[in-house]
Order: sequence, then C-alpha cells, then structure tokens
Amino acid sequence: MAKVIGGVFTSHVPAIGGAIQRGAQGEPYWAPFFNAWPPVREWLDVQQPDVVVMFYNDHGLNFFLDKMPTFAVGAAEVYRNEDEGWGLHPFPVPPGHTELSWAIIEKLVEEEFDITTCQDMLVDHAASIPLALAWPGREAPVRIVPITINTVQHPLPSAKRCLALGRAVGKALAEWQGPEKIMVMGTGGLSHQLDGERAGFMNAEYDKFCMDNLARDPDALTTHSVHEIVELSGTQGVEILNWIAARGALGASTSEVSRTYHIPISNTAAAVMVLETEAAVQSGKIKHEAEPEMI
Ligand code: DHB
Ligand code: FE
Repeated sequence: MAKVIGGVFTSHVPAIGGAIQRGAQGEPYWAPFFNAWPPVREWLDVQQPDVVVMFYNDHGLNFFLDKMPTFAVGAAEVYRNEDEGWGLHPFPVPPGHTELSWAIIEKLVEEEFDITTCQDMLVDHAASIPLALAWPGREAPVRIVPITINTVQHPLPSAKRCLALGRAVGKALAEWQGPEKIMVMGTGGLSHQLDGERAGFMNAEYDKFCMDNLARDPDALTTHSVHEIVELSGTQGVEILNWIAARGALGASTSEVSRTYHIPISNTAAAVMVLETEAAVQSGKIKHEAEPEMI
C-alpha cells in the first residue's frame, strides 16, 4: 500500500537557480536560505520517497496568457525544463509517474474538478528549482506528478477550492494500491510583489499566519478571498495557493518537522517548511524545532 509521508513547501525564486549554478550557496546573501535545506535533506534521507506530487504555478513556459488552465495535471512519461529567460541552464527533471497521474486525474474528475490533462508538458523554475534544492547536483531519485494552479492570470481559483483540490488528490493517493512512498511539494510564495506600485511588498505577519496554520489548521488559510490574499501577500504572494493545495493532499493530521523564514531573497519573503504525516517513518527521525527567523 502506498504511504503519503509528508511534504516540502518552499519558495521557488529563479535567482535561487542562479545561485546554485554559480556555486554561491555559501555567500552571506544566500546562506540564510540555503541553510534551510540540510534538515530537509536529512528528512528525505530517512523517508526515501519514491514519488513527488508537485503543486506549483507555471509562469509562462508551458501555459501562456492565451491558454491558462485553472488546474492542470501532467500525465507525461518525461518532463523537460527550459530557460524561461532567467539565463539559467535547464535543470534535470525526473520522469513522470503516468499511472499515478491518471489515477489522480480520474479521481479529480469524479470529484467534479474540470481539469486539463497534459501528456506533453514543460516544467518551469517553480518545479525544477525545488527539486534541485531537495536533491542537489543530480536528477531527483523519484518520479513526479506535476499539478499546476493558475496563480498568474485572474480570475484565480479560491483558496477554498485549492484546498479541496488538494484533498481530492489526497483521496486518490490514499486509494493508490502501489508500494510507493509518496510526498508532496508546494512551491512559491511567500509574500512578494514583482511589479506595480507595491513592487517589493512583503508581509511577515501574514506569512507567519500561513506558516503557523499550515500543519494543523489549513482551513484558516481559506478564510481570505483571492483579492484579500493579494492585498495581504502581494500579487505573486498569491502563490500560497500552491502550498494550500499541497497541504490538502496530506490529510487531516500533519506535524511540522522544520521551518525557515528569511527576508528577502530577490523580491520574495523566502520560506521552507517540512510537514509529515503519521505514516512518515518514525525511526531515526530528527525533530527540528527551530524558531522561524522573523526579520
Ligand atoms: C521572483 C519570485 C517568484 O516567485 C518568481 O516566480 C519569479 C521571481 C523574485 O522574487 O525575483
Ligand atoms: Fe513564482
């Protein structure tokens, strides 16, 4: 029987990819962000996941403004990353788990989500950089199911709808009969705004609210409308929708394993969290009770 072991939640700023490719992880600007990752990798070493269900938003690589699905699920054998104009070399992307993709798609349609299915799909920095952070210097030793949420072109799905989407994905994972250990990733955020009058806007208080409630009370994150989230978190801070959906796939009960928060990385309040389910491997588990770094 498959086990859903937990999730890694992280910002996906493209400049992180530049820092990786320049070997700048130890520089004073970057160290507070990259220092979040050894505990994440320790957790991954213990848990040994086989599959990552990745919730993220495409920023114009696979979907442009002319065709923008609210929710799309990848069902490809292989995925490819390309340079989107950030000057990054493409990162390696692991193969797809097509059978699990179709099980998720079947469940989502049964649960009345009108999704787009993608048997040919490029994945952008929001998927490739988190994988490169979790498994640096190599192709991640997992298979993936990418799920994109439109956080780019309004109207966006509500936080409530994204949590429901994640919960429906969670049902598919719970019913999956394979032997795999499955984890989720939710990428993007936290608060940031890249353009307009409030360019550079961040909100540590709202970010803390999201991080404090993610493990135990994700419904608290659905009390704000999308427009309120934009107000609280910035036009791109609404990428928290990806975290909310990923959290939904983990079921009712999760606990926090690690958390790091650092302002700023590029224009973004950067956060990294690990949550685990009761199905996570218990032996040799290390609890990291680090206080978030609030600046
Ligand atoms: C930045 C953050 C993002 O989430 C993104 O997709 C692109 C750029 C930034 O802070 O530079
Ligand atoms: Fe983004």
